[in-house]
Amino acid sequence: MAAAGRRLLWAAVSALVLASEAAAVLELDDSFKENRKDDIWLVDFYAPWCGHCKKLEPVWNEVGIEMKNMGSPVKVGKMDATSYSSIASEFGVRGYPTIKLLKGDLAYNYRGPRTKDDIIEFANRVAGPLIRPLPSQLMFEHVQRRHRVLFVYVGGESPLKEKYIEVASELIVYTYFFSASEDVLPEYVTLPELPAVVVFKDGIYFVYDEYEDGDLSSWINRERFQGYLNVDGFTLYELGDTGKLVAIAVIDDKNSSVEHTRLKSIIQEVAKEYRDHFHRDFQFGHMDGNDYINSLLMDELTIPTVVVLNTSNQQYFLPDRPIESIEDMVQFINDILDGTAEVQGGDGILQRIKRIIYDAKSTVVSVFKSSPLLGCFLFGLPLGVISIMCYGICTADTDGGTEETVATKKETGDRELTDEGSEEEQEEENKDTSAELSDGEQKQKNVLDKKKD
Ligand SMILES: *[C@@H]1O[C@H](CO)[C@@H](O)[C@H](O)[C@H]1NC(C)=O
Ligand SMILES: *[C@@H]1O[C@H](CO)[C@@H](O)[C@H](O)[C@H]1NC(C)=O
Repeated sequence: MAAAGRRLLWAAVSALVLASEAAAVLELDDSFKENRKDDIWLVDFYAPWCGHCKKLEPVWNEVGIEMKNMGSPVKVGKMDATSYSSIASEFGVRGYPTIKLLKGDLAYNYRGPRTKDDIIEFANRVAGPLIRPLPSQLMFEHVQRRHRVLFVYVGGESPLKEKYIEVASELIVYTYFFSASEDVLPEYVTLPELPAVVVFKDGIYFVYDEYEDGDLSSWINRERFQGYLNVDGFTLYELGDTGKLVAIAVIDDKNSSVEHTRLKSIIQEVAKEYRDHFHRDFQFGHMDGNDYINSLLMDELTIPTVVVLNTSNQQYFLPDRPIESIEDMVQFINDILDGTAEVQGGDGILQRIKRIIYDAKSTVVSVFKSSPLLGCFLFGLPLGVISIMCYGICTADTDGGTEETVATKKETGDRELTDEGSEEEQEEENKDTSAELSDGEQKQKNVLDKKKD
């Protein structure tokens, strides 16, 4: 009796959970265009066949549930962009999955890591007020602890404030925008005049100067990263928007030998001490490991090393001798700026052909690495078949040769069939082992796709 009751209860609970999950993420259709106007929507545009979309699905359900539990005004939905392709293309969906926050006439693209926390943070930031007031010193300190880069407008109503709001409506996808009165700021801050836009980062602050820094939007775009970063594929992709060259120490973070640690501190020092000279054109940082950078550059860099990337055209620069001091690094940067450093890579036709060959080669290598035997079958067998056929054709004029050839063909034909079977299995097997790789590839593709935009 009790067991049956418990089972019933369990069934009811599961039904409730299912119902709430279903309601947390709405499946959208044609009517969405009419119905969405009064609400803010976070939408996953997916294609039923796409692997990355399937991977996102459980995350997306969690996003839906959590947004609902938080009482967020943002509605979470998903739309099969292949069934409703005209709506999808109206929203500018070009790849799958595409995550967008739709707020009135504005559509904000999400391009960060596809994790629950990152997506929710994005939705809350973009859906919330464009400018967030900081009414007290306590509030300022609290917010400053949580944001490594903090933009604050200081002053009353002014044309600069209007400009600030305008820029925020575009760049809120990247960062928060705050406002405060002067007495809320820490004591060490002295502003030459009011109103002002200030960025707090790297333990200090910088004041926007219209004459020196150009328009506010590009200043904020340049300043929205810390002076020195731990760079990964996503960061590199994001940095592309700043138009800066990215100077990174490629090191092994776990290697405590002096070559690795020194290179990191050289770059850190240059970022800090030479900020005034270089920060308009350069972003500094380090990257752990050379796998990602090697596949991006199609090169074999040995670590530790320094590489400077031009993310807008895929060109890069390598020092012609080891960087052993701050002076070496400054010299290297100056060589790049005055055009004497040798350029490598690029996005020309030859580089694109190289990319195709490189990708094909890495696929073959990754199959061989994860399963050498199958690798032999997959790539060795066709060669074997071809040589046997050639042999058959060459020897066809000898006695009984024709029959032999037919027999051989039949035999190899059979084997080819089994082989195809194992190729599919192989792909299944590979999925897990190459998950990391495909993430890397995805990022790299993102970097490349972006160039087309
Ligand atoms: C650390 O780096 C040095 C110099 O590149 C290298 O010779 C050494 O083998 C590395 N040590 C480890 C534990 O990887
Ligand atoms: C980086 O690429 C852009 C776009 O091709 C180009 O205009 C710029 O001069 C390049 N920068 C350097 C330092 O080569």
